[in-house]
Amino acid sequence: MRRDAFSRALMREHTLLPSDLVMVAFVIEGEAKREPVPSMPGVDRLSIDELLKLAGECVRLGIPALALFPSPGQGVKTEDAREAWNPDNLMHRATRALKARYPGLGLIGDVALDPYTTHGQDGLIDAHGYVMNEPTVEALVKMSLAQADAGMDVVAPSDMMDGRIGAIRDALEAAGHIHTRILAYSAKYASSFYGPFRDAVGSSANLGKGNKHTYQMDIANSDEALREVELDIAEGADMVMVKPGLPYLDVLRRVKDAFGMPTLVYQVSGEYAMLKAAVQNGWLDEQAVVLETLTAFKRAGADGILTYFAVDAARWLRGE
Ligand code: PBG
Repeated sequence: MRRDAFSRALMREHTLLPSDLVMVAFVIEGEAKREPVPSMPGVDRLSIDELLKLAGECVRLGIPALALFPSPGQGVKTEDAREAWNPDNLMHRATRALKARYPGLGLIGDVALDPYTTHGQDGLIDAHGYVMNEPTVEALVKMSLAQADAGMDVVAPSDMMDGRIGAIRDALEAAGHIHTRILAYSAKYASSFYGPFRDAVGSSANLGKGNKHTYQMDIANSDEALREVELDIAEGADMVMVKPGLPYLDVLRRVKDAFGMPTLVYQVSGEYAMLKAAVQNGWLDEQAVVLETLTAFKRAGADGILTYFAVDAARWLRGE
Protein backbone atom coordinates (compact mmCIF):
# COMPACT_ATOMS: atom_id res chain seq x y z
CA MET A 1 0.00 0.00 0.00
CA ARG A 2 2.88 2.41 0.61
CA ARG A 3 4.41 1.70 -2.81
CA ASP A 4 2.50 4.27 -4.87
CA ALA A 5 1.18 7.76 -4.26
CA PHE A 6 -2.37 6.65 -5.18
CA SER A 7 -2.56 3.93 -2.54
CA ARG A 8 -0.89 6.13 0.07
CA ALA A 9 -3.55 8.75 -0.66
CA LEU A 10 -6.37 6.21 -0.35
CA MET A 11 -5.32 5.06 3.09
CA ARG A 12 -4.39 8.47 4.46
CA GLU A 13 -6.39 9.05 7.64
CA HIS A 14 -5.96 12.78 8.19
CA THR A 15 -5.64 15.75 5.86
CA LEU A 16 -4.47 19.13 7.06
CA LEU A 17 -6.40 22.07 5.58
CA PRO A 18 -6.10 25.86 5.90
CA SER A 19 -9.50 25.71 7.62
CA ASP A 20 -7.89 23.82 10.52
CA LEU A 21 -5.63 26.75 11.35
CA VAL A 22 -5.89 29.82 13.54
CA MET A 23 -3.31 32.55 12.96
CA VAL A 24 -1.85 34.22 16.03
CA ALA A 25 -0.98 37.93 16.02
CA PHE A 26 0.58 40.45 18.41
CA VAL A 27 -0.84 43.97 18.27
CA ILE A 28 0.98 47.22 19.08
CA GLU A 29 0.14 50.91 19.03
CA GLY A 30 1.16 53.13 16.13
CA GLU A 31 0.86 53.23 12.37
CA ALA A 32 2.68 51.29 9.66
CA LYS A 33 4.67 49.61 12.40
CA ARG A 34 6.09 46.11 12.38
CA GLU A 35 8.38 45.25 15.28
CA PRO A 36 10.28 41.99 14.96
CA VAL A 37 10.19 39.67 17.97
CA PRO A 38 13.86 38.63 18.31
CA SER A 39 13.11 35.25 19.88
CA MET A 40 10.53 34.47 17.16
CA PRO A 41 12.26 35.04 13.80
CA GLY A 42 9.65 35.84 11.14
CA VAL A 43 7.03 37.06 13.65
CA ASP A 44 6.39 40.81 13.93
CA ARG A 45 4.26 42.76 16.35
CA LEU A 46 1.83 44.71 14.18
CA SER A 47 0.11 48.07 14.39
CA ILE A 48 -3.59 47.89 13.58
CA ASP A 49 -3.19 48.90 9.92
CA GLU A 50 -0.59 46.16 9.44
CA LEU A 51 -2.84 43.73 11.29
CA LEU A 52 -5.57 44.46 8.74
CA LYS A 53 -3.22 43.34 5.96
CA LEU A 54 -2.53 40.09 7.79
CA ALA A 55 -6.27 39.58 8.29
CA GLY A 56 -6.85 40.08 4.56
CA GLU A 57 -4.26 37.41 3.85
CA CYS A 58 -5.97 35.02 6.28
CA VAL A 59 -9.27 35.56 4.51
CA ARG A 60 -7.68 35.00 1.10
CA LEU A 61 -6.05 31.77 2.29
CA GLY A 62 -9.17 30.33 3.94
CA ILE A 63 -7.85 30.60 7.51
CA PRO A 64 -11.06 30.88 9.56
CA ALA A 65 -9.88 32.86 12.56
CA LEU A 66 -7.27 35.12 14.05
CA ALA A 67 -6.21 35.04 17.72
CA LEU A 68 -5.22 38.46 19.05
CA PHE A 69 -2.70 39.24 21.76
CA PRO A 70 -2.04 42.86 22.66
CA SER A 71 1.41 44.15 23.47
CA PRO A 72 0.50 47.45 25.11
CA GLY A 73 3.25 49.77 26.30
CA GLN A 74 4.57 49.71 29.87
CA GLY A 75 2.70 53.00 30.37
CA VAL A 76 -0.75 51.39 30.65
CA LYS A 77 0.26 48.61 33.06
CA THR A 78 -1.05 48.86 36.61
CA GLU A 79 -1.30 46.63 39.66
CA ASP A 80 -5.05 46.12 39.01
CA ALA A 81 -4.85 45.73 35.19
CA ARG A 82 -7.74 48.14 34.64
CA GLU A 83 -6.64 48.86 31.05
CA ALA A 84 -7.89 45.34 30.20
CA TRP A 85 -11.51 46.53 30.24
CA ASN A 86 -10.98 50.06 28.95
CA PRO A 87 -13.48 50.19 26.04
CA ASP A 88 -10.96 52.07 23.94
CA ASN A 89 -7.87 49.97 24.61
CA LEU A 90 -5.63 48.65 21.86
CA MET A 91 -7.33 45.25 21.74
CA HIS A 92 -10.79 46.73 21.36
CA ARG A 93 -9.71 49.23 18.70
CA ALA A 94 -8.10 46.37 16.78
CA THR A 95 -11.26 44.28 17.12
CA ARG A 96 -13.51 47.05 15.81
CA ALA A 97 -11.19 47.76 12.87
CA LEU A 98 -10.95 44.07 11.94
CA LYS A 99 -14.69 43.43 12.26
CA ALA A 100 -15.48 46.49 10.12
CA ARG A 101 -13.17 45.34 7.31
CA TYR A 102 -13.44 41.53 7.54
CA PRO A 103 -16.70 40.66 9.31
CA GLY A 104 -16.46 36.98 8.36
CA LEU A 105 -13.03 36.40 9.88
CA GLY A 106 -13.41 34.91 13.36
CA LEU A 107 -11.69 36.86 16.11
CA ILE A 108 -10.44 35.19 19.26
CA GLY A 109 -9.53 37.44 22.18
CA ASP A 110 -7.11 36.43 24.90
CA VAL A 111 -8.64 36.88 28.34
CA ALA A 112 -5.90 37.12 30.97
CA LEU A 113 -4.41 40.08 32.76
CA ASP A 114 -0.70 39.56 32.02
CA PRO A 115 -0.30 42.21 29.30
CA TYR A 116 -1.77 44.77 31.68
CA THR A 117 -0.25 44.00 35.09
CA THR A 118 2.94 45.61 36.40
CA HIS A 119 3.91 42.21 37.87
CA GLY A 120 3.26 40.21 34.69
CA GLN A 121 0.94 37.69 36.36
CA ASP A 122 -2.31 36.63 34.65
CA GLY A 123 -4.32 37.65 37.71
CA LEU A 124 -4.47 40.02 40.68
CA ILE A 125 -1.99 39.34 43.46
CA ASP A 126 -2.06 39.64 47.25
CA ALA A 127 0.72 41.13 49.39
CA HIS A 128 2.75 37.94 48.99
CA GLY A 129 2.49 37.88 45.21
CA TYR A 130 -0.04 35.03 45.24
CA VAL A 131 -2.60 35.22 42.43
CA MET A 132 -6.05 35.47 44.04
CA ASN A 133 -8.76 33.48 42.31
CA GLU A 134 -11.99 35.35 43.09
CA PRO A 135 -10.88 38.97 42.46
CA THR A 136 -9.19 37.78 39.29
CA VAL A 137 -12.38 36.12 38.04
CA GLU A 138 -14.23 39.42 38.59
CA ALA A 139 -11.61 41.22 36.51
CA LEU A 140 -11.77 38.58 33.78
CA VAL A 141 -15.55 38.98 33.61
CA LYS A 142 -15.15 42.73 33.03
CA MET A 143 -12.50 42.03 30.41
CA SER A 144 -14.68 39.48 28.58
CA LEU A 145 -17.67 41.82 28.53
CA ALA A 146 -15.52 44.63 27.14
CA GLN A 147 -14.21 42.35 24.40
CA ALA A 148 -17.71 41.17 23.50
CA ASP A 149 -18.89 44.80 23.41
CA ALA A 150 -16.11 45.55 20.93
CA GLY A 151 -17.29 42.72 18.69
CA MET A 152 -15.02 39.84 19.63
CA ASP A 153 -16.48 36.55 18.36
CA VAL A 154 -14.72 34.27 20.82
CA VAL A 155 -13.36 35.08 24.27
CA ALA A 156 -10.54 32.79 25.29
CA PRO A 157 -9.64 32.79 28.98
CA SER A 158 -6.00 31.66 29.20
CA ASP A 159 -5.56 32.41 32.89
CA MET A 160 -6.44 29.05 34.53
CA MET A 161 -8.49 30.53 37.39
CA ASP A 162 -11.20 28.26 38.83
CA GLY A 163 -14.80 29.07 37.97
CA ARG A 164 -14.08 31.73 35.38
CA ILE A 165 -15.87 29.98 32.51
CA GLY A 166 -19.16 29.87 34.39
CA ALA A 167 -18.83 33.45 35.61
CA ILE A 168 -18.01 34.73 32.12
CA ARG A 169 -20.84 32.72 30.54
CA ASP A 170 -23.39 34.10 33.03
CA ALA A 171 -22.20 37.67 32.55
CA LEU A 172 -22.25 37.40 28.75
CA GLU A 173 -25.79 36.01 28.81
CA ALA A 174 -26.98 38.68 31.22
CA ALA A 175 -25.53 41.39 28.96
CA GLY A 176 -27.25 39.96 25.90
CA HIS A 177 -24.07 38.64 24.32
CA ILE A 178 -25.74 35.34 23.51
CA HIS A 179 -23.56 34.64 20.46
CA THR A 180 -20.14 35.14 22.03
CA ARG A 181 -18.34 31.81 22.11
CA ILE A 182 -15.97 30.73 24.86
CA LEU A 183 -12.74 28.93 24.06
CA ALA A 184 -11.41 27.69 27.39
CA TYR A 185 -7.71 27.20 27.81
CA SER A 186 -8.65 24.22 29.97
CA ALA A 187 -5.41 22.28 30.13
CA LYS A 188 -2.79 24.98 30.14
CA TYR A 189 0.51 23.86 31.57
CA ALA A 190 3.11 25.83 33.53
CA SER A 191 5.43 25.37 30.56
CA SER A 192 8.86 26.77 29.80
CA PHE A 193 7.85 26.99 26.14
CA TYR A 194 6.11 30.38 26.65
CA GLY A 195 9.30 32.44 26.98
CA PRO A 196 9.30 34.01 23.50
CA PHE A 197 5.60 34.92 23.86
CA ARG A 198 6.35 36.80 27.07
CA ASP A 199 9.02 38.73 25.15
CA ALA A 200 6.49 39.45 22.41
CA VAL A 201 3.77 40.84 24.67
CA GLY A 202 6.33 42.57 26.84
CA SER A 203 5.53 40.78 30.10
CA SER A 204 8.79 38.88 30.69
CA ALA A 205 10.59 41.80 32.33
CA ASN A 206 7.56 42.43 34.56
CA LEU A 207 7.34 38.78 35.56
CA GLY A 208 11.07 38.68 36.25
CA LYS A 209 12.00 35.55 38.18
CA GLY A 210 8.31 34.92 38.93
CA ASN A 211 6.48 31.90 37.60
CA LYS A 212 2.88 30.73 37.16
CA HIS A 213 3.09 27.44 39.01
CA THR A 214 0.32 28.35 41.47
CA TYR A 215 -2.34 28.36 38.73
CA GLN A 216 -1.06 26.75 35.52
CA MET A 217 -0.95 22.93 35.46
CA ASP A 218 1.96 20.79 36.58
CA ILE A 219 3.71 19.45 33.48
CA ALA A 220 3.76 15.97 35.04
CA ASN A 221 -0.05 15.55 35.11
CA SER A 222 -2.66 14.40 32.65
CA ASP A 223 -5.58 13.01 34.74
CA GLU A 224 -5.81 16.55 36.08
CA ALA A 225 -6.22 17.83 32.52
CA LEU A 226 -9.37 15.73 32.17
CA ARG A 227 -10.74 17.15 35.43
CA GLU A 228 -10.06 20.70 34.24
CA VAL A 229 -11.71 20.08 30.87
CA GLU A 230 -14.73 18.50 32.51
CA LEU A 231 -15.24 21.52 34.76
CA ASP A 232 -14.94 23.98 31.88
CA ILE A 233 -17.46 22.05 29.79
CA ALA A 234 -19.87 21.94 32.74
CA GLU A 235 -19.48 25.69 33.19
CA GLY A 236 -20.35 26.38 29.54
CA ALA A 237 -17.22 26.27 27.40
CA ASP A 238 -17.91 25.89 23.67
CA MET A 239 -14.39 24.75 22.84
CA VAL A 240 -11.54 23.51 24.98
CA MET A 241 -7.83 23.84 24.47
CA VAL A 242 -4.65 21.99 25.29
CA LYS A 243 -1.48 24.05 25.48
CA PRO A 244 1.43 23.72 24.63
CA GLY A 245 1.10 21.41 21.64
CA LEU A 246 3.75 18.98 20.55
CA PRO A 247 5.01 17.93 24.03
CA TYR A 248 1.35 17.35 25.08
CA LEU A 249 -0.07 15.23 22.23
CA ASP A 250 -0.94 12.54 24.77
CA VAL A 251 -3.10 15.01 26.68
CA LEU A 252 -4.75 16.18 23.46
CA ARG A 253 -5.67 12.62 22.54
CA ARG A 254 -7.04 11.86 26.01
CA VAL A 255 -9.14 15.03 26.05
CA LYS A 256 -10.59 14.40 22.60
CA ASP A 257 -11.37 10.76 23.39
CA ALA A 258 -12.92 11.52 26.77
CA PHE A 259 -15.22 14.36 25.75
CA GLY A 260 -15.47 14.57 21.95
CA MET A 261 -15.62 18.35 22.31
CA PRO A 262 -14.35 20.84 19.75
CA THR A 263 -10.75 20.62 20.87
CA LEU A 264 -8.07 23.10 19.93
CA VAL A 265 -4.35 22.94 20.48
CA TYR A 266 -1.83 25.77 20.69
CA GLN A 267 1.57 25.35 19.05
CA VAL A 268 3.20 27.89 21.33
CA SER A 269 5.98 30.41 20.90
CA GLY A 270 8.75 28.14 22.16
CA GLU A 271 7.74 25.42 19.73
CA TYR A 272 7.86 27.99 16.94
CA ALA A 273 11.25 29.29 18.09
CA MET A 274 12.69 25.79 18.31
CA LEU A 275 11.65 24.89 14.78
CA LYS A 276 12.77 28.23 13.35
CA ALA A 277 16.18 28.00 14.96
CA ALA A 278 16.82 24.60 13.41
CA VAL A 279 15.49 25.77 10.05
CA GLN A 280 17.68 28.88 10.11
CA ASN A 281 20.70 26.69 10.74
CA GLY A 282 19.79 24.57 7.75
CA TRP A 283 19.23 21.56 10.01
CA LEU A 284 15.57 20.99 9.19
CA ASP A 285 13.41 21.48 6.08
CA GLU A 286 10.91 24.13 7.19
CA GLN A 287 7.92 23.26 5.05
CA ALA A 288 8.19 19.52 5.66
CA VAL A 289 8.76 19.75 9.36
CA VAL A 290 6.08 22.38 10.05
CA LEU A 291 3.43 20.49 8.09
CA GLU A 292 4.47 17.32 9.91
CA THR A 293 3.90 18.94 13.30
CA LEU A 294 0.52 20.36 12.25
CA THR A 295 -0.59 17.01 10.83
CA ALA A 296 0.47 15.37 14.09
CA PHE A 297 -1.99 17.64 15.93
CA LYS A 298 -4.82 16.48 13.69
CA ARG A 299 -3.80 12.85 14.15
CA ALA A 300 -3.85 13.35 17.90
CA GLY A 301 -7.41 14.69 17.78
CA ALA A 302 -7.23 18.46 17.30
CA ASP A 303 -10.11 20.17 15.50
CA GLY A 304 -8.21 23.42 15.25
CA ILE A 305 -4.63 24.55 15.70
CA LEU A 306 -3.40 27.94 16.89
CA THR A 307 -0.02 28.47 15.28
CA TYR A 308 2.34 31.27 14.30
CA PHE A 309 2.92 29.25 11.11
CA ALA A 310 -0.74 29.44 9.99
CA VAL A 311 -0.21 31.81 7.05
CA ASP A 312 2.92 30.05 5.81
CA ALA A 313 1.32 26.63 6.21
CA ALA A 314 -1.85 27.67 4.39
CA ARG A 315 0.24 28.97 1.49
CA TRP A 316 2.17 25.70 1.31
CA LEU A 317 -1.00 23.64 1.49
CA ARG A 318 -2.39 25.64 -1.43
CA GLY A 319 0.80 25.07 -3.40
CA GLU A 320 1.84 28.74 -3.29
C1 PBG B 1 -0.86 34.37 29.03
C2 PBG B 1 -0.58 33.62 27.79
C3 PBG B 1 0.61 32.98 27.53
C4 PBG B 1 0.50 32.43 26.26
C5 PBG B 1 -0.76 32.73 25.76
N1 PBG B 1 -1.44 33.48 26.74
C6 PBG B 1 1.85 32.92 28.29
C7 PBG B 1 1.81 32.62 29.71
O1 PBG B 1 0.93 31.92 30.21
O2 PBG B 1 2.72 33.10 30.38
C8 PBG B 1 1.61 31.68 25.59
C9 PBG B 1 1.54 31.54 24.13
C10 PBG B 1 2.83 31.19 23.50
O3 PBG B 1 3.84 30.89 24.16
O4 PBG B 1 2.85 31.20 22.26
N2 PBG B 1 -2.13 34.62 29.36
